[in-house]
Amino acid sequence: MTGEQTKGLEGVVASQTSLSFIDGQEGVLIYRGYDIHDLAPNASFLESVFLLWNDRLPTPGELAAFEREVGGLRALDDTVIQVLRALPRDSTPMSALRTATSAAGTTDPDAEDNSAEANLRKAKRLVAQFPTMIAAFHRMREGDEPIDPDPSLSHAADFLRMANGEAGTAEAAGALDRTLLLYLDHGFNASTFTCRVIAATLGDMHSAVTGGVGALKGPLHGGANAKAMETLLEIGEVDNVAPWLDRALEQKRKIMGFGHRVYRTEDPRATHLREMSRVLTHQAGMDKWYEISRRLEAELKTRKGLNPNVDFYCATVYYALGVPIDLYTPLFAMGRIGGWTAHVMEQHADNRLIRPRAEYIGKMDRPWVSLDDR
Ligand SMILES: CC(C)(COP(=O)(O)OP(=O)(O)OC[C@H]1O[C@@H](n2cnc3c(N)ncnc32)[C@H](O)[C@@H]1OP(=O)(O)O)[C@@H](O)C(=O)NCCC(=O)NCCS
Repeated sequence: MTGEQTKGLEGVVASQTSLSFIDGQEGVLIYRGYDIHDLAPNASFLESVFLLWNDRLPTPGELAAFEREVGGLRALDDTVIQVLRALPRDSTPMSALRTATSAAGTTDPDAEDNSAEANLRKAKRLVAQFPTMIAAFHRMREGDEPIDPDPSLSHAADFLRMANGEAGTAEAAGALDRTLLLYLDHGFNASTFTCRVIAATLGDMHSAVTGGVGALKGPLHGGANAKAMETLLEIGEVDNVAPWLDRALEQKRKIMGFGHRVYRTEDPRATHLREMSRVLTHQAGMDKWYEISRRLEAELKTRKGLNPNVDFYCATVYYALGVPIDLYTPLFAMGRIGGWTAHVMEQHADNRLIRPRAEYIGKMDRPWVSLDDR
């Protein structure tokens, strides 16, 4: 195959995984053998992380112990807080999260240990600390002090409390938790593949995850959920959808939150997020954003055959929950960290360096010209 044929590695099977399965034709997503349509309404985020890491569902006792353990690991090392405090307040939260992840890798007691046991300990700390990193930076950029974690609260509820200064409703925490579950893992997506490439050099987990955060930040990947909300705000009214889309397509703009490399039908995660968006925007008295979303979805389906992906309806879910728009992608990371760490562990357990070839299309046989003669 030529480099042109494999551009973007479309259709290339780069390695094997037992973590998640996607059927892009049928719109199927499976974590460790369990259908996302069974997991999303029934399991919690941490229950699904346990599943991903252990290849089985936890018993009630194991889940309670796991939640307690992760809750007890949420506090950040002082160095990480100091690094976050030193950042310019107008840094994007994704840059802050990337920097905090890297900083955490300098103080983690298992930093350079790639053994299975050390990797699992680091994975737990990273899953536990992502909410604290995001919330702490958010507080400090607003001129407030970070709020210490409360291990007695659930993962999502404690994030909302640490970010907002007050506990949200159980419904809000439940909705956030479900988005994290839906974001947890998705085959060899760009950020996960980045993690695996770094892990395959026998790089450590924090290095791999730092790279993953960087890859997720881009608007063609995780950055799309924030861009999707900006699009809806730009459209503003249901009646403006069609004329706005005329102009956008004429300008060859990519509509954020639509299209997918793998899915040729409905993204099964979007099915859940669409319904969550309907309910939550209604409860928040913001039906308009759901209605604009539905109209945009219908127009894009008719005109371009495009379906919404995971990021489109997640945007209005987070908007209805009152999350600042530039925290949408960090929340994606707060879910995907469970998958990234699982992939690093899977890579280290059966490693081979990932090193593809490039097809050289540059010039050849150029005669050397000395500096004086140029
Ligand atoms: C996800 C994405 C990067 C996949 O890219 P890809 O597999 O390389 O697909 P392509 O960009 O080659 O798209 C194929 C065709 O569909 C069009 N298309 C795909 N997504 C589109 C979108 N969101 N808006 C408008 N057109 C789109 C492309 O312009 C292209 O049309 P063409 O053949 O006439 O040039 C792409 O759909 C996209 O940019 N979506 C918006 C960003 C986004 O939501 N990302 C989150 C993904 S979960």
